[in-house]
Amino acid sequence: MVCIITVAQQKGGVGKSTLAAQLAISYQALGQKVVVVDIDPQGSLTYWYQQRIARLGNAEATPEVRTITGWRVHNEVLRLSESYDRVIVDSPPHTQTEAKIAIRSADLVLIPLQPSPLDVWATQRTVELTTAEGRPMLAVLNRITGRAKLVEATRQEFAAHGIPLAETGIANRVAYSVSLAKGSGVAETSPTSAAADEINRLIVEIEQHGAGQAFAGAAA
Ligand SMILES: Nc1ncnc2c1ncn2[C@@H]1O[C@H](COP(=O)(O)OP(=O)(O)OP(=O)(O)O)[C@@H](O)[C@H]1O
Ligand SMILES: [Mg+2]
Repeated sequence: MVCIITVAQQKGGVGKSTLAAQLAISYQALGQKVVVVDIDPQGSLTYWYQQRIARLGNAEATPEVRTITGWRVHNEVLRLSESYDRVIVDSPPHTQTEAKIAIRSADLVLIPLQPSPLDVWATQRTVELTTAEGRPMLAVLNRITGRAKLVEATRQEFAAHGIPLAETGIANRVAYSVSLAKGSGVAETSPTSAAADEINRLIVEIEQHGAGQAFAGAAA
């Protein structure tokens, strides 16, 4: 089953941290016990978590965000997977050692990219690493705007290479960044919005991709 989800992509700024946080909040809203692991020295999600604590207080500010670096990442992530339903790992760009370890630990590697040729080319390295580690992967298009031709061209490219690409595309929406700035996610700030629906549909695909042991909430 999908317990450890590592969000990885060597290209910077494609939405790794955004999707990791949105997934964490949405999984939690679906009743799952979630922990986020921030292995990125930029600490984006550590900062997001500080906003969350400031608003909700320490006890209520779940999902917790753990900062883990170096050689401890693999063991710590495995240990966390024993006491949480979902461990969501946000990794840094430029896939260095730690990101490689996070890929190795994953039940599923989620690879965000924007629908552009540059992102498709940049994705190759992450796909190779994931393949080399023998981990299942699911790519997902993020920040989709109206340009349907680019989306279609990207989908065809992935199909031609046999790389799994989620049918759910994540649109470019202000709601994603605004909710993160509040230390939250769209499942909390706008639970009936198109954005929240998008993340839930992605969760269904993630669960389906990971050997079918989905929890009841994801199928709703
Ligand atoms: N679907 C989206 N809609 C609108 N804005 C988005 C979306 N996804 C990401 N962004 C914005 O794009 C920028 C980069 O996103 P993010 O920091 O999540 O990328 P990243 O891959 O984690 O970057 P890095 O490689 O530096 O860690 C942020 O300003 C974020 O708010
Ligand atoms: Mg990031």
